[in-house]
Amino acid sequence: MTPGAGVASAAPPDAFGRALRDLRISVTDRCNFRCPYCMPEEIFGADFPFQPRDAILRFEEIERLARIFSALGATRQRLTGGEPLLRAQLPRLVARLAATPGIRDLALTTNGVLLPRFAGALKEAGLSRVTISLDSLDPETFAQMSGGRGTPEQVLAGIAAAEQAGLGPIKINCVVKRGVNEHEVVALARHFHGSKTILRFIEYMDVGTTNAWDRSQVVPAREIIERIGAELPIEALAPNYAGEVAQRYRYRDGGGEIGFITSVSQPFCGGCTRARLSADGRLFTCLFAAQGLDLLTPLRAGASDEDLRARIVGRWAARRDRYSEERAERTPLLTTRRRRVEMFQIGG
Ligand code: GTP
Ligand code: 5AD
Ligand code: SF4
Ligand code: SF4
Repeated sequence: MTPGAGVASAAPPDAFGRALRDLRISVTDRCNFRCPYCMPEEIFGADFPFQPRDAILRFEEIERLARIFSALGATRQRLTGGEPLLRAQLPRLVARLAATPGIRDLALTTNGVLLPRFAGALKEAGLSRVTISLDSLDPETFAQMSGGRGTPEQVLAGIAAAEQAGLGPIKINCVVKRGVNEHEVVALARHFHGSKTILRFIEYMDVGTTNAWDRSQVVPAREIIERIGAELPIEALAPNYAGEVAQRYRYRDGGGEIGFITSVSQPFCGGCTRARLSADGRLFTCLFAAQGLDLLTPLRAGASDEDLRARIVGRWAARRDRYSEERAERTPLLTTRRRRVEMFQIGG
């Protein structure tokens, strides 16, 4: 390597010994859904002040930060939102990131409705895979979970488009809320049983400050595992990599894989290697962090790669986040009223 080209060296581990391995990049704070657990319609109405264009990172700025992060060890990167497919020309950003050295897994989390339009272009641009949210197969329950936007048919068409484009392995995220869609878990499992698509159930979390979370609305994964296992026997699998978010299971009859994201009942902060970049260029070291580190201002003020790298490393080294474990340590299991970032700003 030529002198001054910047020899890649991983960021030192955080205060609890956790390495930096993943970067989740939010490309927009806007969404075409209004899921009450993320962006309730009453708050995110027509007048809500989303970020103006100038306040969000441009593609070349995202690319530069993504390259610095990948050199620091974040070789798995994921585009999120809001709804990332609302960002104009997203395949162009994907092409830039796919060509960035060091990024070896480039994924996208989407609600799926725009996939029939974009799946082919995303694949061509070099996207590795997609994760699609689907909370219900029943139109009424779906509407309750999405704030009346979109339909299960649209999401299923998005899943089919992703499959056809070769954006697999496809994962499906289903947030489960007590009394709303919990009765649907077996139907969802049956729907994807026997396919290559991996369904994952997510425990409803107290992310952000607008969803009025209450632990009585959480269905613990243990309960979902029992319900599904009673109909379609399953067994636990080893993780694909250390710190994987979902607990993996497989159907005993060879019907494929299914997963459970137990952030409330069995938190996984101990293995949390994820950093998050908001659309306006702030670095968050936890889904529940109150404050992010502004990278956009130094970036636009002409900071060097070395300067940006030092800021990121400094923040990571000081990281002591373990919110979900702290929540689990409180009895009864309560949320806190402290300030924290909203889900739609960092995409989960
Ligand atoms: P892969 O294993 O690469 O597929 O990624 P993933 O499981 O992290 O992907 P995905 O974005 O689909 O994550 C699923 C969901 O799990 C997120 O949208 C969040 O709701 C939740 N989640 C992911 N990471 C964390 C985390 O660090 N903390 C908590 N509490 N929840 C998380
Ligand atoms: N609890 C759990 N999961 C959530 N998601 C959004 N808000 C919450 C919440 N409060 C999920 C979305 C999507 C992923 C990005 O995070 O449904 O699948
Ligand atoms: Fe949009 Fe996803 Fe939030 Fe629903 S959970 S409002 S689809 S960003
Ligand atoms: Fe990581 Fe924070 Fe989630 Fe714990 S609560 S797993 S530290 S993002």
